[in-house]
Amino acid sequence: MKDLDRLALPGTPERDFLDQVDPSSLPRHVAIIMDGNGRWAQGRGLPRVEGHRAGIHAVREAVEGAARLELEALTLYAFSTENWKRPRWEIRALMALLKEYLQKELSALVDNNIRFRPIGRIHELEEDIQRGLERAVAATASNTGLLFQIALNYSGRAELVDLGRRIAEWAAAGALSPREIDEQWVAAHLETAGCPDPDLLIRTSGELRVSNFLLWQIAYTELYITPVLWPDFTALHLVRAVADFVRRERRFGGVVEPSPGNAEDELEET
Ligand code: IPE
Ligand code: IPE
Ligand code: MG
Repeated sequence: MKDLDRLALPGTPERDFLDQVDPSSLPRHVAIIMDGNGRWAQGRGLPRVEGHRAGIHAVREAVEGAARLELEALTLYAFSTENWKRPRWEIRALMALLKEYLQKELSALVDNNIRFRPIGRIHELEEDIQRGLERAVAATASNTGLLFQIALNYSGRAELVDLGRRIAEWAAAGALSPREIDEQWVAAHLETAGCPDPDLLIRTSGELRVSNFLLWQIAYTELYITPVLWPDFTALHLVRAVADFVRRERRFGGVVEPSPGNAEDELEET
């Protein structure tokens, strides 16, 4: 792990965690539902758009934090296929902020060896956003550090529908037989192909739902909900979420074999 002082100051519980943790126990992939921008702004008597603007700082914190933790992948949910239901002015402001982010942050992504990958129905976005995304993908394509996926005009159902259509086309053309399809095949044909499933899904602002995010990929993901509103989220909050994750017992439908010592304890207790 790099620049630990930028993640958590010495003497704090978060820093003690980072100093002691076995790096192999960290999540490989963290996904975040960035939520609460509107409430952050409303709480300050500001227009919702100011919450989105403030949220850019939190994006930087999350991306840099994930890079310093040396995670393999970070996926941020920035705009869902359902977010088109919002007022036009809010959508326009979100797209303008995205454009601004791509212009301002590209050099930092390149410098930090981060590979950028948008997921979602990108072809439905404005032309100049598409160009900005393509530029960022091209400029970071040979980077070998963190994979930073940003979900734009994305939903898990849309992703599965799109794959279903492609499957039907390939099958109709005689290019795909039913026997070829298994879980590995599906994973390898989703937009997140090549990226491990998220180990940890963080949602800010306290909402207890997944809002159509990465539905296939989160089958066995650990969930972490924090009341922190997205504009207030920092690298320290990411460290706290990761520290919580490391204490979880993941079973994937199986059973965790007790060690001989534990087995005896269990017998005594029952
Ligand atoms: C998250 O903040 C940003 C997007 C969904 C684009 P919200 O705008 O959803 O904020 P709340 O939920 O209204 O507080
Ligand atoms: C989820 O947040 C989508 C993104 C973070 C991009 P929303 O604010 O749109 O979700 P709901 O409507 O509260 O479920
Ligand atoms: Mg919201």
